[in-house]
Amino acid sequence: MSLENRHLLGLEGVSKNDIQLILDTAETFREVLERPIKKVPTLQGKTIVNLFFESSTRTRISFELAERRLSADVVNFSADMSSLKKGETLKDTARNIEAMKIDMVVMRHGAPGAALFLSKVINSVIINAGDGSHEHPTQALLDLYSIREKYNHIEGLNVCIVGDISHSRVALSNIHGLKTMGANIAVCGPATLIPRELDRLGVKIFNRIDEAIEWANVLNVLRIQLERQDKSFFPSLGEYRKYFAVTKDKIQKINKNITIMHPGPINRDVELSADLADGEHSIILQQVLNGVAVRMAVLYLLGTRS
Ligand code: CP
Repeated sequence: MSLENRHLLGLEGVSKNDIQLILDTAETFREVLERPIKKVPTLQGKTIVNLFFESSTRTRISFELAERRLSADVVNFSADMSSLKKGETLKDTARNIEAMKIDMVVMRHGAPGAALFLSKVINSVIINAGDGSHEHPTQALLDLYSIREKYNHIEGLNVCIVGDISHSRVALSNIHGLKTMGANIAVCGPATLIPRELDRLGVKIFNRIDEAIEWANVLNVLRIQLERQDKSFFPSLGEYRKYFAVTKDKIQKINKNITIMHPGPINRDVELSADLADGEHSIILQQVLNGVAVRMAVLYLLGTRS
């Protein structure tokens, strides 16, 4: 079994079979992560470069751990310490790194389409670790894995993505992945942070958080991305908190076992109350753990694809 595509640039257009293959493979690697020695020789001899042009905690460390646990040789590139500072272009940077005989590149970049661009200028396998507000496919895959782990299925579940949908690569990748896997999808947030095209993708839109909580089995709460907003999309953080924050009070009004997810980093007590983030409904740290297994699966499947 191998993936249809050579690269993982996004989840748009990725088939149900491929998503299922990644999730099933991740289950095997999840078991490896429970062993005393969390390492397998699968990618021995392969060289992977992590090109991060934007800050990251979870994704960068998760990819590096996944690569090392597959026994790959790993090089970390940090834009701040590179010759980009002297004016070198992304294309020249990538081509020079590739000249040193590498196999795969994991890239995070602030520009939507940067991973696609890279796949056209070098021959290495490219994995998108987040390109601006476009896609973050491995985040959505680990979200799908975590939902499947909790419910044993994805099809038919009601999943609502809450918050800043317009600026979120996590939202877009989740919408593509959830749709392919047969979930019912909704979004909830201020109208100014919800793209109008979403109803054409079959996504339900809630303007009131209470209605979203009533409908959903799973709430995937997104960070309010103040750094990507060039104007104010809501009057104040206080207003946002009042109308859209997911809090214990709002959840307790509805007597059901809802699951709370968040891709991180969390603005505690802004989009999600701290007690809920750390409480019984939350699977946030499970998502982080599953992320390593899912990235091992993606690296393995792409790194050994014939
Ligand atoms: N979820 C996520 O992408 O987190 P980081 O920005 O810390 O990588």
